[in-house]
Amino acid sequence: MGKIVIAIDGYSGCGKSSTAKAVAKALGFTYIDSGAMYRAATLHFLNHFLSPSNPNDVEKGLKSLEISFQINPDTQKQETYLNGLNVEDQIRTMKVSERVSEVATVKQIRKELVAKQQRLGKRKGVVMDGRDIGSVVFPDAELKVFMTADLETRAARRQQELLDKGEMVDLEEIKTNLAERDRIDSSRVESPLIKTPDAVEIDTSNLTFDGQVAQIVQLAKAVIEKEKDYAGNH
Ligand code: CDP
Ligand code: CDP
Repeated sequence: MGKIVIAIDGYSGCGKSSTAKAVAKALGFTYIDSGAMYRAATLHFLNHFLSPSNPNDVEKGLKSLEISFQINPDTQKQETYLNGLNVEDQIRTMKVSERVSEVATVKQIRKELVAKQQRLGKRKGVVMDGRDIGSVVFPDAELKVFMTADLETRAARRQQELLDKGEMVDLEEIKTNLAERDRIDSSRVESPLIKTPDAVEIDTSNLTFDGQVAQIVQLAKAVIEKEKDYAGNH
């Protein structure tokens, strides 16, 4: 199968990462969770009492920041490592969610993480989800998807996810966090969340998970076919 880059951007909790993961699996592509990198950077700053608004702290934090992904051999799931330690669960807690958008506004931090994301996707055959994948990280991505869903639906989904991991969080608290992150992510100066004109918008509020995965896989296969035809004719 031909290799392309699939960029999935959108608001918090509309299903980007779980959908991206399933799409990657269906196509035999690699899934890259760019949000996990911002979350790991946030955890690093929190652990070392570094402030993202202090340039010296940012420099210090970036110098000692090493993020990687590894597949867990038992579950086959991709997990995030921070300076050699598995932080997959820690980066999904509310403590990190509450600070991540602030960390993600910092230009220097974005620059480092974007460069890493571009390196990881250089050989194509990747599905990457985030906020600026189609606009900044891979502006030439062959397929761009912009996912949305209403706030109520997104909050309920996130609450269930946290509950499955043993963290009980009030629905209103989750709604406030999602809305606040959407606000910061969409209004920041550096790489704000935007829908690029060439992105396909998918509202997942009333879709089934399998339905939205199938829709994107179908779009991807159509793009791959078109690329093959083009290569055959040139
Ligand atoms: O999973 P959820 O949608 O809650 O968030 P995420 O994808 O894990 O991303 C966490 C945060 O990282 C977002 O709210 C953004 O502030 C930031 N982020 C970003 O700025 N750019 C990206 N490409 C990915 C995430
Ligand atoms: O990455 P993002 O924050 O956009 O969302 P996510 O971390 O993939 O979380 C979305 C949650 O909603 C996951 O638990 C999905 O299984 C669930 N879900 C969905 O994504 N789409 C539906 N149509 C129904 C449920």
